[in-house]
Amino acid sequence: MITIDCSALNVMVVGGTSGINRGIAELFAEHGAAVAVASRTQSKVDDTVASLKALGASKALGFVADVRNYDDLQVGLENAAKAMGGFDVVVSGAAGNFPALASEMSPNAFKSVIDIDLIGTYHVMRAIYPLLNKPGASVISISAPQAQMPMVAQAHVSAAKAGVDMITRNLANEWGASGVRINSIIPGPIEGTEGVARLAPTPAAMKLCVKSVPLQRMGTPQDIGNACLFLASPLASYITGAVIPVDGGWLQGGVAAVAATFSQLLQGDNPGA
Ligand code: NAP
Ligand code: COA
Repeated sequence: MITIDCSALNVMVVGGTSGINRGIAELFAEHGAAVAVASRTQSKVDDTVASLKALGASKALGFVADVRNYDDLQVGLENAAKAMGGFDVVVSGAAGNFPALASEMSPNAFKSVIDIDLIGTYHVMRAIYPLLNKPGASVISISAPQAQMPMVAQAHVSAAKAGVDMITRNLANEWGASGVRINSIIPGPIEGTEGVARLAPTPAAMKLCVKSVPLQRMGTPQDIGNACLFLASPLASYITGAVIPVDGGWLQGGVAAVAATFSQLLQGDNPGA
C-alpha cells in the first residue's frame, strides 16, 4: 500500500459537493488534509463537510457560492483561506452540462455552460492566486474529453472545456515563476455521476460506454482523486501546464464511438438495445 501524508495540506475544492469533485475532496480528507468545499447549495455543502470530518480531515469547512458570481466567490474563498492558512491545493471543478444540439438550444443555454465552466474557472483562478501558499501550491482544473473530442450535442461543453484547458496552460506560464503549478485532468466516464447520467441515460447507452473504454470499465471518483493526490505531491514537482487524461484510454478513440450514440439517443433510437 502506498501511504501519502496530506496532513500539512490545505485543500480547496470548488464544486466539491457531489460526484467526482466530492470524491476528490473526500480522498484528501481520508489522507488527513484540511479540506474546504464550495457550491451553490447549502444542504450539499453541509452534508459534504460532515462527511469530510467523519473521514478524518484535519479541518473541514464549506461555503455557498455560484462561480458565476465573482464577488460572492471571492469573499467565500478569502474567508476559507483565512480559516485554513492559505491554500496548498485548489481543485476547480464546478460545471454544468446537458445534451442539446447547437442549432436547437437557446443562446442562453449555450451561455449558461460557458458562464459556469469557462468564466467560472477564470473567476476561481482570479480569486485564488493571492490566496495560494507560494512557492509550492498545486492547482488542478477538472476538464472533460469534449475539450479535445467533438461530440454531437456538446458544442457548448467542448467550447467551454477547451477554454478551461487553455486557461490552465496560460496560467502555467504566468504562475510558474512564483512556484505555482497548474494542470488539467480529463476524466473518462465516471460511474455513478450526474455527468454520465445526463450523457448515457439508459442501461444500453451505459453498456456501450463501458465497451468503448480500452480498459473496459467506468472510472471511479477515486481514480480522479488519485491523480489529484499525485499532482499535489512532490512526485509531480516538475509537472505544470499539462492536460492529463485519466480515462482508461477513452480519448484514444472509444469516446468517438460513444459520441455517435448521443446522436442516436437524440433521434429517439435505443443504442445498443
Ligand atoms: P456533479 O456531481 O453535477 O458535480 C458538479 C459540482 O459542481 C456539484 O458540487 C455542484 O454543486 C457544483 N456546481 C455546479 N454548478 C455550479 C456553480 N454554478 N457554482 C458553483 N458550484 C457549482 O458532476 P460530475 O459529473 O461529478 O462532474 C464533475 C466535474 O467532472 C465537472 O467539471 C465535469 O465537467 C467533469 N467531468 C465529469 C465526467 C463524468 O463522467 N461525470 C467526465 C468528464 C469530466 P451545486 O449543485 O450545489 O452547485
Ligand atoms: N436542453 C436545452 N437547454 C437547456 C437544458 C437542456 N437539457 N437545460 C437547461 N437549458 C437551458 C434553459 O432552458 C435556459 O435557457 P433559456 O433561458 O433560454 O430558457 C438555460 O439553459 C439556463 O438554464 P437554467 O435552468 O436557468 O440554468 P441554471 O443556472 O439554473 O442551471 C444548468 C445550469 C442548466 C447547467 C443546470 O443543468 C445545472 O445546474 N447543472 C449542474 C449539474 C450538472 O450539469 N452536472 C454535470 C456536470 S458535467
